[in-house]
Amino acid sequence: MTLFAGLTVAPNIARLRSFVTSLADLIDGARDESEILESGGALLARLVSRDDWLPDQFAKPSPERYQQYLLHCDSRERFSVVSFVWDGGQGTPIHDHRVWGLVGVLRGAERVEQYQRRANGSLEQVGPTVTLGEAEVEAIDPRSGDIHRVFNAYSDAPSVSIHVYGGNIGAVERATYDSDGTPKPFISGYANAVLPNLWDRSART
Ligand SMILES: [Fe+2]
Repeated sequence: MTLFAGLTVAPNIARLRSFVTSLADLIDGARDESEILESGGALLARLVSRDDWLPDQFAKPSPERYQQYLLHCDSRERFSVVSFVWDGGQGTPIHDHRVWGLVGVLRGAERVEQYQRRANGSLEQVGPTVTLGEAEVEAIDPRSGDIHRVFNAYSDAPSVSIHVYGGNIGAVERATYDSDGTPKPFISGYANAVLPNLWDRSART
């Protein structure tokens, strides 16, 4: 059992189980991606409105770089749920997603810069840098532009956000971008090899 030593079950992990089953139901019946983003955003807002369900192992920052922990992947890889954990001052490079996404802040705050391509292929920031605080949710829609950079709003404290994507995001072939717009192929993978157990219904969680 040493493989699982130190893994604990958060007291209210059932909130995450309820979220993934509700999202699967939504995707089964949704007419289109807009409905998934709208209704899925409401489900995510409910999930991140309570900070008592994420096991500590999946909220642990690394001094090296931000961490992306897989919390759940749909059995047909229609969606995945991850925790993004930022240590103070950490952020992503400019990157795209190529699938729909939802971002909800569980703890702390994050800042998002949106980018679009100029005619010459370079990138420019569009709109103001947006700050998302606790319990706030934002959608990522590749149909209207999904290139952004995300970073911890705090330079001296960790932040944690919960992201949901329309695929197995750690395996999606996408890109990071230099400031001149040059894409670099990118497959993110995940920071964890073991997932939280959502399914032990005997544990009254
Ligand atoms: Fe992103």
